[in-house]
Amino acid sequence: METRGIILAGGSGTRLYPLTAAFSKQLQPVYDKPMIFYPLSTLMMAGIRDVLIISTPTDTPVFKKLLGDGQRYGITISYAVQDEPRGIADAFRVAKDFIGGSPVCLILGDNIFYGKLNFLRDAIKANTGATIFGYQVQDPQRYGVVEIDAQGNVVSIEEKPTSPRSSLAIPGLYIYNSEVVEIAASLAPGARGELEITDVHRVYHERRTLEVQMLGRGIAWLDTGTPESLLDASTFIHAIEKRQGLKIGCLEEVALHQGFLTSDEYRASVALLPSSSYKNYCESLYEER
Ligand code: G1P
Repeated sequence: METRGIILAGGSGTRLYPLTAAFSKQLQPVYDKPMIFYPLSTLMMAGIRDVLIISTPTDTPVFKKLLGDGQRYGITISYAVQDEPRGIADAFRVAKDFIGGSPVCLILGDNIFYGKLNFLRDAIKANTGATIFGYQVQDPQRYGVVEIDAQGNVVSIEEKPTSPRSSLAIPGLYIYNSEVVEIAASLAPGARGELEITDVHRVYHERRTLEVQMLGRGIAWLDTGTPESLLDASTFIHAIEKRQGLKIGCLEEVALHQGFLTSDEYRASVALLPSSSYKNYCESLYEER
């Protein structure tokens, strides 16, 4: 069965106030695109064509306005509302019908990856239970943290520990078989009153079907949780785009490269874009061909 994608773009984003007073964090600009373009392009590059976006009652219509039904990118985008922020694992309750019996890849709408991203496609192919990733960071206490043994097996997983047992943060990108629906349904809220993703991983760990894969230093995993890290992410994207003259997270381009759009469909999608440097860029791609 084809793996389906979920982007969780809910939450209150209070750490970015007042930026997030009127609209959600995942709609904020990261240099020249709304933040959600980056995680959506990550899923598309992994070959995922069926995506559910979960957001708040007020932001869902804005995401719909931004991305529509996905046809312009050769994919299907549907939407579901999470009426209150009940935690990441609540996504699997909201998405129960969407997931059905399929495997699923969840990406948090504020997680940006850059680099050689074929690791995701490979991990989706290889996944049998759950696959999470580990990424070396300087400040692991801000994240889910995984501790591994010399063979690369999971020893412990903790959510935002005050004394981290390793410097391996768990990025907001996870792959599951369809058991995740039943696991999420069986969870009770943790100390924060939310359904914790870490508890989902503990269950897979107990079932001995949790895999952790290391993301090497060649992959950039960017944080957007504070005004400063948001600016850093913009600066990073800007520096690379300016140097290469290529865009990161251009959904039309990704759709063309993935074969989700034929060249005629691509031209038709691009023709509908308003005059902008984004449109000029998309047009320059078919001039090259
Ligand atoms: C969430 C997860 C955490 C993960 C992080 C990645 O934290 O709870 O395990 O490492 O996303 O972005 P939050 O963004 O809710 O603080």
